[in-house]
Amino acid sequence: MADIAQTPRATTGCAGLDKMLHGGLVEGYCVVLEGSPGTGKTTLGLQFLMDGCKKGEPGIAITFEEFPEQYYENAMQLGWDLKAYEDQGLLKVQFSDPLTFLEGLQDLDGHIAEMVDGMGAKRILVDSVSHFERLTNDAGDLRRIETDLVHALKREGLTSILLKENPHVLGGWDRGDNRVAFIADALILLRYIELESEIKRGVVVLKMRGSDHEKEIRQYVIREQGLVVGDVFQGVAGLFIGSARGGEKN
Ligand SMILES: Nc1ncnc2c1ncn2[C@@H]1O[C@H](COP(=O)(O)OP(=O)(O)OP(=O)(O)O)[C@@H](O)[C@H]1O
Ligand SMILES: [Mg+2]
Repeated sequence: MADIAQTPRATTGCAGLDKMLHGGLVEGYCVVLEGSPGTGKTTLGLQFLMDGCKKGEPGIAITFEEFPEQYYENAMQLGWDLKAYEDQGLLKVQFSDPLTFLEGLQDLDGHIAEMVDGMGAKRILVDSVSHFERLTNDAGDLRRIETDLVHALKREGLTSILLKENPHVLGGWDRGDNRVAFIADALILLRYIELESEIKRGVVVLKMRGSDHEKEIRQYVIREQGLVVGDVFQGVAGLFIGSARGGEKN
Protein backbone atom coordinates (compact mmCIF):
# COMPACT_ATOMS: atom_id res chain seq x y z
CA MET A 1 0.00 0.00 0.00
CA ALA A 2 1.24 3.50 -0.85
CA ASP A 3 2.46 5.52 2.09
CA ILE A 4 -0.28 8.12 2.49
CA ALA A 5 2.04 10.49 4.35
CA GLN A 6 4.18 10.69 1.19
CA THR A 7 1.26 11.03 -1.23
CA PRO A 8 0.86 14.56 -2.61
CA ARG A 9 -2.17 16.54 -1.52
CA ALA A 10 -4.78 18.23 -3.65
CA THR A 11 -5.59 21.49 -1.91
CA THR A 12 -9.27 22.43 -1.73
CA GLY A 13 -8.89 26.17 -2.26
CA CYS A 14 -10.16 26.68 1.30
CA ALA A 15 -7.05 27.26 3.40
CA GLY A 16 -8.80 26.58 6.71
CA LEU A 17 -10.15 23.26 5.49
CA ASP A 18 -6.75 22.28 4.08
CA LYS A 19 -5.34 22.89 7.54
CA MET A 20 -8.01 20.64 9.05
CA LEU A 21 -6.99 18.02 6.47
CA HIS A 22 -3.30 18.42 7.34
CA GLY A 23 -2.48 19.74 3.89
CA GLY A 24 -5.45 18.95 1.69
CA LEU A 25 -7.12 15.92 0.17
CA VAL A 26 -4.87 12.95 -0.53
CA GLU A 27 -4.43 12.82 -4.32
CA GLY A 28 -6.52 10.09 -5.92
CA TYR A 29 -8.92 9.93 -2.99
CA CYS A 30 -12.66 9.87 -3.34
CA VAL A 31 -14.21 12.23 -0.83
CA VAL A 32 -17.85 12.51 0.21
CA LEU A 33 -18.93 16.03 1.14
CA GLU A 34 -22.27 15.79 2.89
CA GLY A 35 -24.48 18.63 4.00
CA SER A 36 -27.94 20.06 4.50
CA PRO A 37 -29.56 22.16 1.75
CA GLY A 38 -27.73 25.44 1.15
CA THR A 39 -24.77 24.70 3.41
CA GLY A 40 -22.30 25.32 0.55
CA LYS A 41 -21.64 21.88 -0.92
CA THR A 42 -21.65 23.08 -4.53
CA THR A 43 -19.63 26.15 -3.53
CA LEU A 44 -16.89 24.09 -1.86
CA GLY A 45 -16.91 21.60 -4.74
CA LEU A 46 -16.40 24.39 -7.27
CA GLN A 47 -13.80 26.02 -5.01
CA PHE A 48 -11.82 22.76 -5.25
CA LEU A 49 -12.08 22.77 -9.06
CA MET A 50 -11.15 26.47 -9.26
CA ASP A 51 -8.10 25.79 -7.09
CA GLY A 52 -7.09 23.12 -9.60
CA CYS A 53 -7.62 25.45 -12.58
CA LYS A 54 -5.38 28.07 -10.98
CA LYS A 55 -2.65 25.44 -10.57
CA GLY A 56 -3.04 24.08 -14.10
CA GLU A 57 -4.80 20.91 -12.88
CA PRO A 58 -7.87 20.54 -15.09
CA GLY A 59 -11.18 19.49 -13.57
CA ILE A 60 -14.62 18.24 -14.49
CA ALA A 61 -17.92 19.18 -12.85
CA ILE A 62 -20.70 16.66 -13.42
CA THR A 63 -24.00 18.13 -12.38
CA PHE A 64 -27.50 16.74 -12.46
CA GLU A 65 -28.97 20.21 -11.94
CA GLU A 66 -31.46 21.04 -14.64
CA PHE A 67 -30.69 24.71 -15.25
CA PRO A 68 -27.21 25.17 -16.75
CA GLU A 69 -27.39 28.97 -16.97
CA GLN A 70 -28.29 29.17 -13.28
CA TYR A 71 -25.26 27.04 -12.42
CA TYR A 72 -22.92 29.39 -14.30
CA GLU A 73 -24.67 32.43 -12.83
CA ASN A 74 -24.38 31.15 -9.24
CA ALA A 75 -20.68 30.53 -9.79
CA MET A 76 -20.29 34.02 -11.23
CA GLN A 77 -21.85 35.43 -8.04
CA LEU A 78 -19.04 33.72 -6.16
CA GLY A 79 -16.47 35.31 -8.49
CA TRP A 80 -15.85 32.30 -10.71
CA ASP A 81 -16.18 32.57 -14.47
CA LEU A 82 -16.60 28.89 -15.31
CA LYS A 83 -16.98 29.55 -19.04
CA ALA A 84 -13.62 31.34 -19.17
CA TYR A 85 -11.90 28.30 -17.64
CA GLU A 86 -13.78 26.03 -20.07
CA ASP A 87 -12.47 28.15 -22.95
CA GLN A 88 -8.93 27.60 -21.63
CA GLY A 89 -9.50 23.83 -21.54
CA LEU A 90 -9.03 23.74 -17.76
CA LEU A 91 -12.62 22.94 -16.91
CA LYS A 92 -15.54 21.03 -18.31
CA VAL A 93 -19.00 21.46 -16.81
CA GLN A 94 -21.14 18.59 -17.91
CA PHE A 95 -24.89 18.66 -17.39
CA SER A 96 -26.03 15.08 -17.33
CA ASP A 97 -28.57 12.70 -15.90
CA PRO A 98 -27.53 9.95 -13.47
CA LEU A 99 -28.08 7.06 -15.89
CA THR A 100 -26.25 8.59 -18.85
CA PHE A 101 -23.38 9.53 -16.58
CA LEU A 102 -23.08 6.02 -15.13
CA GLU A 103 -23.19 4.43 -18.57
CA GLY A 104 -20.50 6.82 -19.79
CA LEU A 105 -18.33 5.90 -16.81
CA GLN A 106 -18.49 2.14 -17.20
CA ASP A 107 -16.33 1.63 -20.30
CA LEU A 108 -12.60 2.03 -20.09
CA ASP A 109 -12.92 4.00 -23.33
CA GLY A 110 -16.33 5.49 -22.54
CA HIS A 111 -17.01 9.18 -22.89
CA ILE A 112 -15.92 10.06 -19.35
CA ALA A 113 -12.55 8.33 -19.85
CA GLU A 114 -12.26 10.11 -23.18
CA MET A 115 -12.97 13.46 -21.56
CA VAL A 116 -10.48 12.79 -18.71
CA ASP A 117 -7.75 11.79 -21.18
CA GLY A 118 -8.58 14.55 -23.64
CA MET A 119 -8.20 17.38 -21.14
CA GLY A 120 -5.79 15.69 -18.73
CA ALA A 121 -8.30 16.04 -15.87
CA LYS A 122 -7.01 15.53 -12.34
CA ARG A 123 -10.11 16.48 -10.35
CA ILE A 124 -13.82 15.83 -10.56
CA LEU A 125 -16.92 17.03 -8.75
CA VAL A 126 -20.15 15.01 -8.84
CA ASP A 127 -23.10 17.23 -7.88
CA SER A 128 -24.72 15.20 -6.38
CA VAL A 129 -24.64 11.44 -5.76
CA SER A 130 -28.02 11.71 -4.02
CA HIS A 131 -29.54 11.71 -7.53
CA PHE A 132 -28.54 8.04 -7.94
CA GLU A 133 -31.20 7.20 -5.37
CA ARG A 134 -33.76 7.92 -8.11
CA LEU A 135 -32.42 5.00 -10.16
CA THR A 136 -33.40 2.21 -7.80
CA ASN A 137 -35.36 1.39 -4.66
CA ASP A 138 -33.07 -1.50 -3.82
CA ALA A 139 -30.36 -0.78 -1.24
CA GLY A 140 -28.06 -3.46 -2.71
CA ASP A 141 -28.36 -2.03 -6.23
CA LEU A 142 -27.59 1.45 -4.95
CA ARG A 143 -24.53 0.23 -3.12
CA ARG A 144 -23.30 -1.45 -6.32
CA ILE A 145 -23.86 1.76 -8.30
CA GLU A 146 -21.96 3.80 -5.71
CA THR A 147 -19.13 1.26 -5.50
CA ASP A 148 -18.81 1.19 -9.31
CA LEU A 149 -18.75 4.98 -9.35
CA VAL A 150 -15.97 5.22 -6.75
CA HIS A 151 -13.92 2.51 -8.51
CA ALA A 152 -14.31 4.13 -11.92
CA LEU A 153 -13.20 7.54 -10.62
CA LYS A 154 -10.16 5.95 -8.98
CA ARG A 155 -9.38 4.01 -12.14
CA GLU A 156 -9.24 7.35 -13.97
CA GLY A 157 -6.75 8.58 -11.36
CA LEU A 158 -8.97 11.47 -10.32
CA THR A 159 -9.23 13.17 -6.96
CA SER A 160 -13.01 13.30 -6.53
CA ILE A 161 -15.51 15.16 -4.43
CA LEU A 162 -18.94 13.55 -4.35
CA LEU A 163 -21.66 15.77 -2.95
CA LYS A 164 -24.29 14.12 -0.79
CA GLU A 165 -27.49 15.79 0.33
CA ASN A 166 -28.61 15.48 3.91
CA PRO A 167 -32.26 16.50 4.22
CA HIS A 168 -32.00 17.47 7.89
CA VAL A 169 -31.59 21.18 8.41
CA LEU A 170 -31.43 21.45 12.19
CA GLY A 171 -31.90 19.03 15.05
CA GLY A 172 -30.86 15.39 15.01
CA TRP A 173 -28.99 14.18 11.96
CA ASP A 174 -30.06 10.78 10.75
CA ARG A 175 -27.19 9.47 8.67
CA GLY A 176 -28.37 5.86 8.61
CA ASP A 177 -28.68 5.52 4.82
CA ASN A 178 -25.25 6.87 4.04
CA ARG A 179 -23.62 3.88 2.34
CA VAL A 180 -21.40 5.90 0.06
CA ALA A 181 -19.58 7.30 3.10
CA PHE A 182 -18.31 3.79 3.86
CA ILE A 183 -16.99 3.27 0.34
CA ALA A 184 -15.31 6.67 0.10
CA ASP A 185 -11.82 7.43 1.44
CA ALA A 186 -12.82 10.57 3.27
CA LEU A 187 -15.93 12.18 4.70
CA ILE A 188 -16.49 15.87 5.37
CA LEU A 189 -19.73 17.21 6.83
CA LEU A 190 -21.28 20.68 6.54
CA ARG A 191 -24.22 21.62 8.66
CA TYR A 192 -26.25 24.35 10.30
CA ILE A 193 -25.78 24.79 14.01
CA GLU A 194 -28.20 26.66 16.22
CA LEU A 195 -26.33 28.38 18.98
CA GLU A 196 -27.71 31.04 21.31
CA SER A 197 -30.53 31.96 18.91
CA GLU A 198 -28.21 32.24 15.94
CA ILE A 199 -27.80 29.90 13.00
CA LYS A 200 -24.17 29.24 12.28
CA ARG A 201 -22.45 26.85 9.94
CA GLY A 202 -20.04 24.14 11.04
CA VAL A 203 -17.61 21.86 9.20
CA VAL A 204 -15.97 18.68 10.45
CA VAL A 205 -13.70 16.07 8.86
CA LEU A 206 -15.10 12.74 10.02
CA LYS A 207 -12.68 10.45 8.27
CA MET A 208 -9.66 10.38 5.98
CA ARG A 209 -8.20 6.93 5.45
CA GLY A 210 -4.60 6.43 6.47
CA SER A 211 -4.11 10.03 7.50
CA ASP A 212 -4.50 12.09 10.62
CA HIS A 213 -6.79 15.12 10.48
CA GLU A 214 -8.37 17.62 12.81
CA LYS A 215 -11.37 16.22 14.66
CA GLU A 216 -12.89 19.48 15.90
CA ILE A 217 -15.93 21.27 14.48
CA ARG A 218 -15.07 24.66 13.01
CA GLN A 219 -17.26 27.55 12.03
CA TYR A 220 -17.27 28.72 8.44
CA VAL A 221 -18.86 31.47 6.38
CA ILE A 222 -19.54 31.70 2.65
CA ARG A 223 -18.12 34.69 0.82
CA GLU A 224 -17.11 35.55 -2.70
CA GLN A 225 -14.40 32.98 -3.62
CA GLY A 226 -16.04 30.37 -1.40
CA LEU A 227 -15.92 29.02 2.12
CA VAL A 228 -13.77 30.62 4.77
CA VAL A 229 -13.15 28.40 7.80
CA GLY A 230 -12.71 30.08 11.17
CA ASP A 231 -12.59 29.16 14.84
CA VAL A 232 -13.42 25.94 16.59
CA PHE A 233 -16.76 26.05 18.42
CA GLN A 234 -15.53 26.48 21.98
CA GLY A 235 -16.94 24.56 24.91
CA VAL A 236 -20.05 23.24 23.24
CA ALA A 237 -21.30 19.71 23.23
CA GLY A 238 -23.90 18.06 21.05
CA LEU A 239 -23.38 20.26 17.96
CA PHE A 240 -23.95 17.48 15.48
CA ILE A 241 -26.80 15.83 17.32
CA GLY A 242 -28.73 19.08 17.35
CA SER A 243 -28.65 19.83 21.07
CA ALA A 244 -25.82 22.30 21.50
CA ARG A 245 -25.19 23.15 25.14
CA GLY A 246 -22.89 25.57 26.88
CA GLY A 247 -21.83 27.59 23.83
CA GLU A 248 -19.71 30.69 24.00
CA LYS A 249 -20.76 33.52 21.79
CA ASN A 250 -18.08 33.91 19.08
N1 LIG B 1 -21.56 35.47 -3.13
C1 LIG B 1 -22.00 34.94 -1.98
N2 LIG B 1 -21.74 35.56 -0.82
C2 LIG B 1 -22.15 35.04 0.35
N3 LIG B 1 -22.86 33.90 0.46
C3 LIG B 1 -23.16 33.28 -0.65
C4 LIG B 1 -22.74 33.74 -1.93
N4 LIG B 1 -23.18 32.87 -2.83
C5 LIG B 1 -23.84 31.91 -2.14
N5 LIG B 1 -23.82 32.15 -0.84
C6 LIG B 1 -24.42 31.31 0.23
O1 LIG B 1 -24.26 29.96 -0.16
C7 LIG B 1 -25.47 29.26 -0.02
C8 LIG B 1 -25.67 28.21 -1.11
O2 LIG B 1 -24.50 27.54 -1.33
P1 LIG B 1 -24.51 26.25 -2.25
O3 LIG B 1 -25.40 26.41 -3.43
O4 LIG B 1 -23.09 25.93 -2.50
O5 LIG B 1 -25.15 25.19 -1.24
P2 LIG B 1 -25.52 23.68 -1.51
O6 LIG B 1 -25.19 22.99 -0.24
O7 LIG B 1 -24.90 23.19 -2.76
O8 LIG B 1 -27.10 23.79 -1.67
P3 LIG B 1 -28.12 22.73 -2.31
O9 LIG B 1 -28.33 21.70 -1.24
O10 LIG B 1 -29.34 23.57 -2.55
O11 LIG B 1 -27.51 22.20 -3.55
C9 LIG B 1 -26.53 30.31 -0.17
O12 LIG B 1 -27.66 29.91 0.54
C10 LIG B 1 -25.89 31.53 0.39
O13 LIG B 1 -26.15 31.59 1.79
MG1 LIG C 1 -25.74 22.40 -4.50
